[in-house]
Amino acid sequence: MTDRLIAAALAAREHAFAPYSKFQVGAALEDADGRIHTGCNVENASYGLTMCAERVAVFKAISEGVRQFSRVAVAADSDVLTPPCGACRQILWEFCGNIEIVLVNPRGKTQAYRLADLFPKPFDVSFL
Ligand code: THU
Repeated sequence: MTDRLIAAALAAREHAFAPYSKFQVGAALEDADGRIHTGCNVENASYGLTMCAERVAVFKAISEGVRQFSRVAVAADSDVLTPPCGACRQILWEFCGNIEIVLVNPRGKTQAYRLADLFPKPFDVSFL
């Protein structure tokens, strides 16, 4: 199952639109029914409009009515595995809680974390 999720993240990375940074990222988000929702980074000539792979995957799934998630894999070509950026950690916390995050590169290196370890003391609905 982890292999399937990792393969999906690596495949999604191939669709990255990253002509400016040349840094391609893929994400694969597994829901409670075992379905996989993928995303890649989508850049823009107006750089600040760029959207990360993780948020594309989350927003695609949310827009299809999915609300329960179990794991997310993030694929990028770095030897020190690429973790989600701060904005993506916030969005993952909102929709996925303390989800398992599997980082991977194309050479088969993987490392698993829990979001709470990467994102301690989150701001969320409990403060509102
Ligand atoms: N990127 C992601 O897709 N996810 C992250 O968590 C880190 C950064 C993308 C955004 C941009 O297109 C490129 O990587 C370089 O920052």
